[in-house]
Amino acid sequence: MNYFSKIIGTGSAFPERIMTNHDFENFVETSDEWIRTRTGIQTRRIADHSKGEFTSTLALKAARNAIEMANIPADQIELIIIGTVTPDSLMPTTANLIQAALGATKAFSFDLQSACSGFLYGLSIADQYIRTGMVKTALVIGAETLSTLINWQDRGTCVLFGDGAGAALLTRTTETNHSILGTKLYSDGSKGDILKIPHGGSKYPHYLPEYQHKLHSIHMQGSEVFKLAVRNMIDASLAVLSDHGLTPEDVDYFFFHQANMRILDMCMKTLKVPKEKTWINLDKYGNTSAATLPVCLDEAWRAKVIKPGDLILMATFGGGVTWASGLIRL
Ligand code: UT7
Repeated sequence: MNYFSKIIGTGSAFPERIMTNHDFENFVETSDEWIRTRTGIQTRRIADHSKGEFTSTLALKAARNAIEMANIPADQIELIIIGTVTPDSLMPTTANLIQAALGATKAFSFDLQSACSGFLYGLSIADQYIRTGMVKTALVIGAETLSTLINWQDRGTCVLFGDGAGAALLTRTTETNHSILGTKLYSDGSKGDILKIPHGGSKYPHYLPEYQHKLHSIHMQGSEVFKLAVRNMIDASLAVLSDHGLTPEDVDYFFFHQANMRILDMCMKTLKVPKEKTWINLDKYGNTSAATLPVCLDEAWRAKVIKPGDLILMATFGGGVTWASGLIRL
């Protein structure tokens, strides 16, 4: 018997607080006009610690929404993966916190660190476990509170990111016409310097004299990341399509990582994707890293813009550097 994975539920969650471009004008040299025209971002959500908004609580809300849509008991879930670079703590994992809170007692769970590619990496891993028959039902989450890793004095990065979480619930199917058709995952550590969080790990722990708090935050060579994100998301999209003998014209709907509107425009132009075939929420949420793709999927699904049988293509690019694509027949 050949097994495949089918998405049966999606969910998303955001902190309450909305931060506008104008808010940044109060503490860095920037403007609403620069941010809007250079990135397409207008607002982003920022977690409020005092209201109990952490990566785990956002992830839990998104997971509960996905489980409610799928209408299955949490104890049927056998695997929980969270893509995040902002876990609540290094131990226990945030995935374990979710496992306990959901009462998903049969699930094994782990956090996965591949920056903005975290959701597609997680989806691919869960898909492999389901295809081999080891797991029947899996929960994949992308959740971040990047606001905790922002250098609020660096105008080149602080305006770009936001907090949020998205989730997808997968289950085993034998029908290929409603399943994840394929995923492609890529890494290139030799370019890791262009988007990194240099301090705060075992090389520069907080107690060393060399440790600098301002290096325990996101550092990015924006234009290098920009060029690579465009090229690699396009290449990854074409690669997963070519694996299945398909072209961009065959795709009903596209989800690209939400980092910069100009990146999205270049991907759409090269792949000849009309704007009405792609979901854009970058203006509202900014770049929420691993959360962007599952949130887009959830929003488009709930808005009934995508429907069962549609061919969906996803592509992402993230720090470190990592990138990925996925092809799904809904
Ligand atoms: O999630 C992973 C994927 N992440 C991304 O894909 C992000 C990719 N990169 C980008 O989106 C863009 O490179 C940025 C939005 C980060 C920057 O846009 P850019 O058009 O590449 O600008 P730049 O870095 O070349 O900088 C141009 C100028 C510089 O000033 P000078 O040196 O020309 O005087 C920057 O200091 O824009 C300045 N600048 C700003 N000015 C006002 C950079 N950030 C800001 C800002 N407000 N927030």
